[in-house]
Amino acid sequence: MSKQITGNYTYEVYPSADTLNKTDNDLLTAAKRAILNAYAPYSGFNVGAAVLLDDGTIVTGNNQENAAYPSGLCAERVAVFYASSQHPAKKIVAIGISATSRDQSINVPVPPCGACRQALAEYEIKFETPIRLIMGGESGEVFISPSISNLLPLLFSSKNLGK
Ligand code: THU
Repeated sequence: MSKQITGNYTYEVYPSADTLNKTDNDLLTAAKRAILNAYAPYSGFNVGAAVLLDDGTIVTGNNQENAAYPSGLCAERVAVFYASSQHPAKKIVAIGISATSRDQSINVPVPPCGACRQALAEYEIKFETPIRLIMGGESGEVFISPSISNLLPLLFSSKNLGK
């Protein structure tokens, strides 16, 4: 005898960045600016992330690749780990993400990879505050998720460690 658990996720679709509210648009703009310092010579896929803290501070990061490929790190984790390392007591309230590529123009929103969702979810749980996720490309639609856990059902957390 088993039962079936069905989940649900939701995100908003905006036609372009200029239809966002100012806070979201500013964060996405900061993420786009952060792309310029990405170090992605191997993939040619340059990602920028901007983390908004509860006092209005914005911390940015970008992907950092390595000749030993798995040793690199995504933009979102660079940004959120830097934010937490510098401002451990400030709540993380939102993150904006964007990317460019040497091979093609990026006209669809860039979602965070699974490992970054897991890393971001840690801070949602720590601060008991949802992290708004603003996903953009160079142009085109923008997706907004009200939280990270919304995009990461059945996540592993400190509860599973008995903490
Ligand atoms: N990457 C990110 O920085 N964030 C994402 O959300 C997806 C992927 C990076 C990792 C790697 O440096 C390059 O993009 C190609 O996967």
